[in-house]
Amino acid sequence: MAHTDTQHDNNRLIMVQPELPYAPDSLVPAISARTIQYHWDIHTRTYIDNLNRLVAASDIAWTSVEDIIRTADPGSLYNNAAQTWNHIFYFYGLSPAGGGEPTGDLAKAIARDFGSFERFYDAFVDAGTAVFGSGWVWLTTDNSRRLAIHAGSNAYNPLREDLVPLLVADVWEHAYYLDYQNRRAEALRRLADIIDWTTIEKRYARLDAIQS
Ligand SMILES: [Fe+2]
Repeated sequence: MAHTDTQHDNNRLIMVQPELPYAPDSLVPAISARTIQYHWDIHTRTYIDNLNRLVAASDIAWTSVEDIIRTADPGSLYNNAAQTWNHIFYFYGLSPAGGGEPTGDLAKAIARDFGSFERFYDAFVDAGTAVFGSGWVWLTTDNSRRLAIHAGSNAYNPLREDLVPLLVADVWEHAYYLDYQNRRAEALRRLADIIDWTTIEKRYARLDAIQS
């Protein structure tokens, strides 16, 4: 990850939760301060604490969270590594100064692969709404810079399929229930007001799956 959020203690990987890059109340009205406080301070922290406990108990000297996501067997270690990574990637893809549409190469790629930004975002909302139960919806690219939407249940992360994540929305109920109750599609629509396209464009330009 790009942040200084991993440390190694006696060659053991230790994940450190980074600072949220904005104030908890700064995404209102798309996301309330109360949701951010539960989601970042409690849910995300718990995944990180669980990950560190499981890494410490593992027989394998994991080198990075991405290493775990790509290669760990299905189960608790994978789940907590992916949930850690997904949440940081999600929160770092949002900004109080976000919204609007991407520009440059990413805008061109969206027009090429989806027809228009509106069609892309409709497909993103539809894919996220269609996830049965908890999960994540992603905008990804591959080494040929083709864009695609991938959605999956629980701790799904497309790194496991050698795809490059660009944008993610959390569709677990804890991400939106306080603010939108069961209206997941509305929550995904409102997310458009705070997506930090400058960051997403940087991710697309870099073509590697780092967090900032
Ligand atoms: Fe979440």
